[in-house]
Amino acid sequence: MKVVVLGAAGGIGQPLALLLKNELPAGTELALFDIAPVVPGVAKDLSHIPTPVKVDGYGAEQLDDALTGADIVLIPAGVPRKPGMDRSDLFNVNAGVVKNLTDAVARNCPKALLAIITNPVNTTVAIAAEVLKKHGVYDPKRLFGVTTLDVIRAETFVADLKGVDPCSLSITVIGGHSGTTILPLLSQSGFSFSAEEVASLTDRIQNAGTEVVQAKAGAGSATLSMALAAARFCRALIKGLQGEGAIECAYVESGSPHARFFAQPVRFGKSGVEEVLPYGSLSAYEQAALDGMLDTLKGDIDKGVEFATS
Ligand SMILES: NC(=O)c1ccc[n+]([C@@H]2O[C@H](COP(=O)([O-])OP(=O)(O)OC[C@H]3O[C@@H](n4cnc5c(N)ncnc54)[C@H](O)[C@@H]3O)[C@@H](O)[C@H]2O)c1
Repeated sequence: MKVVVLGAAGGIGQPLALLLKNELPAGTELALFDIAPVVPGVAKDLSHIPTPVKVDGYGAEQLDDALTGADIVLIPAGVPRKPGMDRSDLFNVNAGVVKNLTDAVARNCPKALLAIITNPVNTTVAIAAEVLKKHGVYDPKRLFGVTTLDVIRAETFVADLKGVDPCSLSITVIGGHSGTTILPLLSQSGFSFSAEEVASLTDRIQNAGTEVVQAKAGAGSATLSMALAAARFCRALIKGLQGEGAIECAYVESGSPHARFFAQPVRFGKSGVEEVLPYGSLSAYEQAALDGMLDTLKGDIDKGVEFATS
């Protein structure tokens, strides 16, 4: 098995690489690519950790080598938010980054499972899909936007409110990964909430990224919690590839009636998404939130398609 991280020297990339070095199955090759010159040093540093995972660093000119033979590619490359920005403000830089990196994926490892972390995820996943299509290698079962951070935040905040172990919870978050397009299904959490609690928890989950951006005061956005979320997502992909099956929410093209790309629970198997699972019935509050987000979500997707096809 070969797992590749593109953007591996960054705020997310480094702790993600550490988690993967520590938990990938024995014999896995972990390839770290970044345009930042520190990447060989990050790989060297990690290579001194005694786990049966081989780690290699690849510099700016070695993207093709990093990707050759990949089974899973995780992309956290690009710029993060600063205070006052929303995720769509990252489009100008990150759209090009995702386009170029996906182009390299299409050329070097077209069958790899491709997980996009780079924001704005609602749009960058659409860009990746169009680039893969241009190369004639697009398989919707193998391309995902990573929304796991919304899930772990929902689990943490609900557990805090209810005084339970967050590891015991499983909360479904549907829609997309930005503002009102993030919709946690609290009605299915197994807990009861007042209307005020639903409104304030939903708002907090939708804006939790901004909490971190403001607290970091210009030094970036969520990195450590995102690395953990990406490692959890990667674990599900690996379990799928190994035939064990695993369920996580993911932003995928799945024939959803709501939008071309939509986040909901999926079961991973040997070739990526094995089954898109229903997300159950919604409360009136959730249904109104879903109806209210769709124009934004579709607009975000259209922007990506337009960028990649023009
Ligand atoms: N999906 C999510 O839930 C989620 C959560 C948090 C952050 N993010 C996004 O993840 C991205 C990275 O965030 P970060 O905090 O790690 O940023 P960062 O600036 O700390 O790191 C980004 C890394 O990407 C590298 N990079 C830039 N262009 C590249 C290219 N063309 N090829 C390879 N590497 C390249 C940089 O050198 C840097 O090392 C941002 O777009 C951020 O918005 C997503």
